[in-house]
Amino acid sequence: MPGRTMGRQVLLFLSALCLSRVLGQVSYTIPEEMAKGSLVGNIAQDLGLDVKRLQARKARIHTGDSTEYIQLSRENGLLVIKDKIDREALCGQTTPCALHFQIALESPIEIFPVTIEITDINDNAPTFQKDEKKIEISESAVIGSKFVLEKAIDPDIGLNGLQTYTLKPSDHFKIRLHSQSDGVKKVEMILQKPLDREKEEFVSLLLTAVDGGEPQRSGTMQIHITVLDANDNSPVFSKSIYKASVKENSLTGTVITKVSASDADKGSNGEVSYIISNSILGTTQLFRITEDGDLVLNGPIDYEKARNYEIDIEAVDRGGLSDSSKVIIDVGDVNDNVPVINMISSSNSVIEDAISNTVVAVMSVNDPDSEENGRVRCVIGRNIPFEIKSTSSNFYSIVTDDDLDREGASEYNITVTCSDEGVPSLSSSVTLTLQISDVNDNAPVFERSSYEAYIVENNTPGLSIFTVKATDADWNQNARVSYILEDSSVNGVPVSSYVSVSADGGVIHAVRSFDYEQIKDFQFRVKAQDGGSPPLSSNVTVKILIQDQNDNPPQVLYPVQTGGSMVAEMVPRSADVGYLVTKVVAVDVDSGQNAWLSYKLQKATDRALFEVGLQNGEIRTIRQVTDKDAVKQRLSVIVEDNGQPSRSATVIVNVAVADSFPEVLSEFTDFTHDKEYNDNLTFYLVLALAVVSFLFITCLVVIISVKVYRWRQSRILYHSNLPVIPYYPPRYSDTLGTGTLQHVYNYEVCRTTDSRKSDCKFGRAGSQNVLIMEPGSTGTMQRMQSEKSILDEPDSPLEVSKVA
Ligand SMILES: *[C@@H]1O[C@H](CO)[C@@H](O)[C@H](O)[C@H]1NC(C)=O
Ligand SMILES: *[C@@H]1O[C@H](CO)[C@@H](O)[C@H](O)[C@H]1NC(C)=O
Repeated sequence: MPGRTMGRQVLLFLSALCLSRVLGQVSYTIPEEMAKGSLVGNIAQDLGLDVKRLQARKARIHTGDSTEYIQLSRENGLLVIKDKIDREALCGQTTPCALHFQIALESPIEIFPVTIEITDINDNAPTFQKDEKKIEISESAVIGSKFVLEKAIDPDIGLNGLQTYTLKPSDHFKIRLHSQSDGVKKVEMILQKPLDREKEEFVSLLLTAVDGGEPQRSGTMQIHITVLDANDNSPVFSKSIYKASVKENSLTGTVITKVSASDADKGSNGEVSYIISNSILGTTQLFRITEDGDLVLNGPIDYEKARNYEIDIEAVDRGGLSDSSKVIIDVGDVNDNVPVINMISSSNSVIEDAISNTVVAVMSVNDPDSEENGRVRCVIGRNIPFEIKSTSSNFYSIVTDDDLDREGASEYNITVTCSDEGVPSLSSSVTLTLQISDVNDNAPVFERSSYEAYIVENNTPGLSIFTVKATDADWNQNARVSYILEDSSVNGVPVSSYVSVSADGGVIHAVRSFDYEQIKDFQFRVKAQDGGSPPLSSNVTVKILIQDQNDNPPQVLYPVQTGGSMVAEMVPRSADVGYLVTKVVAVDVDSGQNAWLSYKLQKATDRALFEVGLQNGEIRTIRQVTDKDAVKQRLSVIVEDNGQPSRSATVIVNVAVADSFPEVLSEFTDFTHDKEYNDNLTFYLVLALAVVSFLFITCLVVIISVKVYRWRQSRILYHSNLPVIPYYPPRYSDTLGTGTLQHVYNYEVCRTTDSRKSDCKFGRAGSQNVLIMEPGSTGTMQRMQSEKSILDEPDSPLEVSKVA
């Protein structure tokens, strides 16, 4: 290369030499950038001067104030490069570029102008001011959009100067050079294919500027294009339909599902917000959607109100582009509803003879939950004569399934419990109170299967004897018992003339005064009838036992007491001690103690001669009869019964102590005197008796009046619980507590047709007089006490008892 450069310099030198000759001045042409010391031209020769003269004339270069690039060598008269010449620095773009200076000579002074033209070499590459450039271009930039680029600068001129630009790669852009009026080209980058940030966000281009020199030089600049986002993409939901489920009663704030929409854009253009676009009333209150796309429960959710929801959602970016989707939410059931029992109809009462399957209540049961949670079963309590039946779905009826008995249970509380099959199960219950109404299905029942009552004879008519009682298990009118005396006859007389029964109280009253000596007992039936329709009844036998009172004195049967004729018993004077003179025979129509007779000698002519058998009334001698003894003996025997008070009869027994009948006759004429005496005595006795009787009756009337008054008072106090000591006749006291009387009284009524014989023709067993009481029967005792309180009156002694 130096060789080539030299060759060109020589060529230039020759042409410059010949040029200077023509112009009369010296000029040279050299390329720029010649090395120091390089030859520019032989100025001595070209000026036609001798080298010695040049030295002598002190030749030198005069440049003014310009830099000295060229040096004159005085020894050989050559011009050489003193300093490296850069054409671009010297002239810039000015062309042609030349150095002008003078060669000055002295003695004489001569000036020779020298011009050195400097030619360009391609020593500069095109350069850009910056190595890189950043441009932001919106992806929405249209085709043909232009972007002005910086120009490159190449100080070289001509062909060595900047020639053209290239841009690589050229997918999106091409370069366009635009010639301007001043000849400088404007560099523009034209968009020829749309940008898409979503595909390529950064584009790097290399802009190269080249010159036309040899060798060609170039400069580059990196262009960094950032594609700016434009909101050219809508958000897109990940699914067109979202499905989700949520249990009812979930808490507010529960995240149901997450939706997401993506937006290919960047920044705010890619920021998606979600909204619920449903307009169905209420839905927007129930749900909300967060910025992150969480669908959140915002209120109470009830399966029973809505089983699913369809929610339209929208995703919107900042630029307003949107997409829509749908969320279908299934609401899951939770067992949150108790079964609701509705009584459609129910009766308050049912009659006790209702047949099986009688409906007493109908109800409906409803559970709004679904599936098992809403499947309901109803049961009622056990051990009651009812059952529950499902008639159709959700409808139940309660029916009787057994016989009812008001007397057994008059009221039922039927508790119906309905529970669903959820886990845990929910249940509710109602209680139905059902009355069983009465039907007259029970007859009155007497407290005893039969009654026995005692009444002492000579009672006052109207006296209440005792009370029968029957109870009826039914209710109210059906249980109202009336007592009716059933028709029958006693000894041919209607029983109603003996007793009456009070219809409402069952109190049996004596209608008449009874006489034990006429009737000892009788029985009749009392019917108890209730007030039902038709009425039911039952009957009971009542036996009334009349008790004896000592109202009859003994009656002497023998010896017969005649008014006129005299009867006498004969006792021979030879009679031994214990000779049976006669036997007093007496009877007492009373019974028992009242008829138990005893005989006593009351008066006697000679008390030492006779005695009377206490029990049998036999009159016997108690000593040997002597001749001194009077023929006529008169005995007065008193016969007493054992009643309380006792009654007695007196009998006069005439005894003749004689061996012959005529003796007796003569003696007994005196008896007539005695009879006269007796008649007088009888008169006085009757008179006295009449007076005493009058006084007695007067007293009796007074006492009865007082007693009746007190009796009425005590009737008022009937129910008072004053203790009353039962009255027992002294002899009846049961000291052994066996219930059997301590004393067994046997008595005999001996009748004899012959006074000499003491045979008993008639006897009664003592057992008939045994009164058996039942000490264990407190009921009887109490009743006796209470009846005693009514009936305990001195003038109407009454004993009531019962034979078990
Ligand atoms: C039914 O219930 C009522 C009220 O709780 C109660 O007074 C009554 O005794 C009950 N009847 C029965 C038969 O349990
Ligand atoms: C009395 O009751 C019995 C059964 O206890 C009955 O057989 C009889 O017919 C009844 N008599 C009357 C008169 O009703």
